[in-house]
Amino acid sequence: MRVSKNLLEISRLSKRFGGLPALSEVSFRAARGQVTALIGPNGAGKTTLLNCLSGVIKPDAGEILFDGANIAGMSAPRVARLGISRTFQNLRLFPRLSVLDNVLCGLTVQAGDSFLEALLRLPGLRNRERRLKLTALEALNTFGLADKAALPAGVLSYGDKKRVEMARAFVSQPVLTLLDEPVAGLNPEETAQIAGLIRQMRMYGKTMILVEHDMEMVMGVSDQVVVLDGGCRIAAGTPDEVRVNPLVLEAYLGRMSLTA
Ligand SMILES: Nc1ncnc2c1ncn2[C@@H]1O[C@H](COP(=O)(O)OP(=O)(O)OP(=O)(O)O)[C@@H](O)[C@H]1O
Ligand SMILES: [Mg+2]
Repeated sequence: MRVSKNLLEISRLSKRFGGLPALSEVSFRAARGQVTALIGPNGAGKTTLLNCLSGVIKPDAGEILFDGANIAGMSAPRVARLGISRTFQNLRLFPRLSVLDNVLCGLTVQAGDSFLEALLRLPGLRNRERRLKLTALEALNTFGLADKAALPAGVLSYGDKKRVEMARAFVSQPVLTLLDEPVAGLNPEETAQIAGLIRQMRMYGKTMILVEHDMEMVMGVSDQVVVLDGGCRIAAGTPDEVRVNPLVLEAYLGRMSLTA
């Protein structure tokens, strides 16, 4: 069987909220093992697109081919079982749970324990629990959080919390990971650290969709950049192509002049 170079093929994806278009016939492809960045001014539709991809919301029209199968309109748990994981623009951690338990949550999708097994605490389940814990600890190590495993997630710095979200998104060995603004609110040092982790995940062969406003970071880690403005795709190409695209400059300059 021929394996397509593209893991994801989005065609004419549309979504409206109360009659207002958030996405209008957006199409693009994401190649396996690459980082595809999705950029655009506030309200461009980036998070809406990630929400459609991860099953959080249903698109009104269009196709999302993931590994050749249309997943548009599928529920979030089904999408997660297919191997799509994500982080959230606004952190979604359990503040009272330990960092380790927060990351373990990323593995429950595949655990598949039965209620009876859990009730009887059968040895098979206990072994599995041990294995899951080891996997979560490995992820914490990769993301530089090993020494914080036992702390409640709520007491961590904002930068550490962002990395816990990433560890949770990658712990299940996902096929595709969606990162919604992983460096928003971080200082330059923390930003460089996350950029390094994204490059490391890419080296491991991970496919990622990265939504981010930090242009320097985006241009430094992405293979392809897709630009949205007002729900429409206005450009796509390599970072160098997009950087000098007049439509992109206009979209960003327009925003800057509005905020100036
Ligand atoms: N659940 C919702 N209900 C109603 N309108 C929504 C909803 N989610 C998004 N929108 C609207 O859809 C448009 C696109 O929003 P979206 O959050 O996708 O933008 P974004 O590109 O992620 O912006 P930002 O960079 O600020 O995160 C906006 O006009 C927003 O107000
Ligand atoms: Mg957003």
